[in-house]
Amino acid sequence: MPDGVLAHVLDPRSSRWSARAFRTIQILAVGLGVTGLVIGTVPAVAARYGTALTGVVLLLAALFLVEYLARLRLAASETVGPADDDAQAEVPKRAAARALRPLRWALTPYALIDLTAALPVPIALIAGMSSGNARLLAALWVLKLARHTPAIGLFGRVVRNERRALVGVMVGFVMALVLAATLAYLAERGEQPETFGSIPGALWWAIATLTTTGYGDQVPATVSGRVLAGVVMICGIATFALWAGILATGFAQELRRQTFLETWDLVARVPLFSSLGPRTIADMTGLLRRFELGADQTVIRKGRPGDCMYFIVEGEVEVQIQPRSVMLGPGGFFGEMALITGEARKATVVTAKPTILLVLDVADFRAMAAARPEVMAIIHAEAERRGTSKASAS
Ligand code: CMP
Repeated sequence: MPDGVLAHVLDPRSSRWSARAFRTIQILAVGLGVTGLVIGTVPAVAARYGTALTGVVLLLAALFLVEYLARLRLAASETVGPADDDAQAEVPKRAAARALRPLRWALTPYALIDLTAALPVPIALIAGMSSGNARLLAALWVLKLARHTPAIGLFGRVVRNERRALVGVMVGFVMALVLAATLAYLAERGEQPETFGSIPGALWWAIATLTTTGYGDQVPATVSGRVLAGVVMICGIATFALWAGILATGFAQELRRQTFLETWDLVARVPLFSSLGPRTIADMTGLLRRFELGADQTVIRKGRPGDCMYFIVEGEVEVQIQPRSVMLGPGGFFGEMALITGEARKATVVTAKPTILLVLDVADFRAMAAARPEVMAIIHAEAERRGTSKASAS
């Protein structure tokens, strides 16, 4: 398979059908392997189908090994830096960097996860481990799902961003824990010396109470112990509410930041905005949202009311008008006429290829008219050229 095709197939962010098909197969393979490992621990199933399950797990491990080798080959073939004439002195450096590329890739967390999926089961079997125990190593395969779960990376960034607040709450939690255990020890040691007779013993009660788990294996018997238990439970709820609040706010902020960055990249690819400078890109990024479509999808239907317009980032659309359809490509826009005139859509618009669009809702269209009159002037001029003269955005 050529490296370009391989790169698309293995790209976890690609929306091509081949990449999506590969991701689906990989997730199904992980699911199948983990199901095999789980049901293989039922003695009756292991006795009857143990050999078949081991065969399936080995086959899947071989598939993961092929994937690992393909990724390694791709890492080795990626280009390093420009190859212009002025950079002749850089040639040996680039050659060294090229030689080190596979090694550098092999040490990344994702590469180590891929290797962990491919090797342990066959190695364990070769080393003489029983097939039942070797199959258990397939549990490591769930780590492969991390590549398809952006939320894991997101969670890491949220924890990093919010570490001060989280550590602050954690310190409060530890203080409450130690105080609760000490007070419970003082209140209960006379009544229940076997469970509250030491602070380590009382600490178990304090953890179960502060986390509101409440196993009920240790229960205060004195009035002061019960009052203390009530206060500790309320402190526990407050601590977790704080933690949840910090994480939820962090997640929302990080998601907003990420969406802004992704949309920024798309907005910068539309010449209408990029030609007007970074201020325009920044302003428009807050107003536009990404919309991805496959080929032959209807975006606008003639005669319907219009509530948004579209800018084409990638792909192509067909505007179905008489006597001949008009094709619009990257940088083009459509759907503006209904917003300007307030009339129904003038034409049906269908995607001719997989297409990435940026959508501007009617309310934001009005906001843009006020904030960015220069953008609006271009849109009005084009709408007039296309056949409307009732140009008024406000
Ligand atoms: P609207 O009428 O809102 O919805 C259909 C869209 O097709 C229309 O806005 C224009 O953006 C677009 N359109 C209509 N006529 C033409 C044309 N002659 N050339 C290109 N695009 C057009």
